Amino acid sequence: MRKAKHSNPHTLEIRLKPAQMRVFACTKRFRVLVAGRRFGKTYLALVELLRAASDRDRLVWYVAPSYKQGKRIAWNRLKRLTKPYWAAKPSETDLSIALSWGSVIALRGTDQYDSLRGDGLDFVVLDEYASMHPACWTEVLRPALSDRSGGALFIGTPQGFNHFYERYDRAQTEPDWAGFQFTTEEGGNVSTEELASAARELDERCYRQEFQASFEHLRQGRVYYAFERSGNVLDCRYQPGAPLIWSVDFNVNPMCSIVAQRVDDTVYVLDELVLPDSNTPAACEAFLDRTKPIWEAGPVTLQVYGDATGESRSSASSRTDWKIIRDFFNAKKTAFQASIRVDASNPPVKDRINCVNARLCNSVRQRRLFIDTRCKQLIRDLEQVSWKTDANGNPLIELDKSDPMRTHTSDALGYYIAHAFPMRPSVGYRPGILPL
Ligand SMILES: Nc1ncnc2c1ncn2[C@@H]1O[C@H](COP(=O)(O)OP(=O)(O)OP(=O)(O)O)[C@@H](O)[C@H]1O
Ligand SMILES: [Mg+2]
Repeated sequence: MRKAKHSNPHTLEIRLKPAQMRVFACTKRFRVLVAGRRFGKTYLALVELLRAASDRDRLVWYVAPSYKQGKRIAWNRLKRLTKPYWAAKPSETDLSIALSWGSVIALRGTDQYDSLRGDGLDFVVLDEYASMHPACWTEVLRPALSDRSGGALFIGTPQGFNHFYERYDRAQTEPDWAGFQFTTEEGGNVSTEELASAARELDERCYRQEFQASFEHLRQGRVYYAFERSGNVLDCRYQPGAPLIWSVDFNVNPMCSIVAQRVDDTVYVLDELVLPDSNTPAACEAFLDRTKPIWEAGPVTLQVYGDATGESRSSASSRTDWKIIRDFFNAKKTAFQASIRVDASNPPVKDRINCVNARLCNSVRQRRLFIDTRCKQLIRDLEQVSWKTDANGNPLIELDKSDPMRTHTSDALGYYIAHAFPMRPSVGYRPGILPL
């Protein structure tokens, strides 16, 4: 397809993949595309925007769950795509691009969707619709399309049976609507080897959701659904030669941490420290005491992980906590050669939990995370931590913290696992090809 109707010496050739083309060629006013990660959803969204803006005096929007997210995933790509047609330099404050024939493409976020009222739109793409508040469509975007009979394209990867599922389901039967569902593989941007590697990294349900675009009951009930006592609990002995791992959650009561080791790709949790009404210096002393039989035999390589920003406290106090830990181990060099491995921020809770579930049991049923029988609180967490629900009993993407004993040991474990085995965000990017 050629990029725009208006001739320009800088015109680029854009080739949609066959699956993208099926959506692009559909003439229904409202379309819903359910597709796996790295299918090419955002790429298609940007090409759709340019087509919708290719007539005179059009106003079209790219809408993301938040302004910040939209800017990160689409703004530079949108500028690259439209550059030959700019009327002026794009506005970096309004995230809008005026084209030489009077049309405007703007980028918006639904984090404050009330502020989006007031414009009449010709076309809107809702990218990552599963993560948006459903009211942004019914209350703001749908009415904005009315006076110009504008169209809409909903795009996303499933997130359980939420409003995105409802929208897709209804699109199958309602006139004016069309629904499409494609796996990542059908998108043609990710190699078979990469997909096989993702299957090993993710647990089964997560893989089906993220790469096969399947609607799954992901968040109902137990958070760590991949955990099984019979499969993940073992006698885990200290293995000399492998570094010791200490991962800390800075909750005050109880203050929780786990002691582990990694051998190749497998993690063994040897012990847990659950200290009522405690603080970081006391936790360091308790760790020293508990690991005495190990370091008495000679200095041990230690890696320390944990809560980067102090989710349960202010980030200032978490910075102090990290300083206490650093100073403590600097003064204990005869026992430990310690390195502190903490990022500037924590990954999203959902990603952290996906990483733990993937280690507990991946989609090819390999278990690469084992817990010693003495870790009573951690085992309870893995069996009992559940998602919080709203007043109607629908699960939210938030952990249920109503029991003060729950979540802290599994959080401590998750900080380490997500740092050491992160979810790979950018499968499918092929260097050398202009990424839109
Ligand atoms: N038709 C195409 N031709 C060439 N490259 C493409 C095409 N479609 C997508 N790509 C490339 O494939 C990669 C993934 O595309 P894109 O970011 O659009 O996928 P996505 O489905 O939005 O991914 P995510 O699930 O991470 O949001 C990008 O590098 C993009 O440039
Ligand atoms: Mg995308």
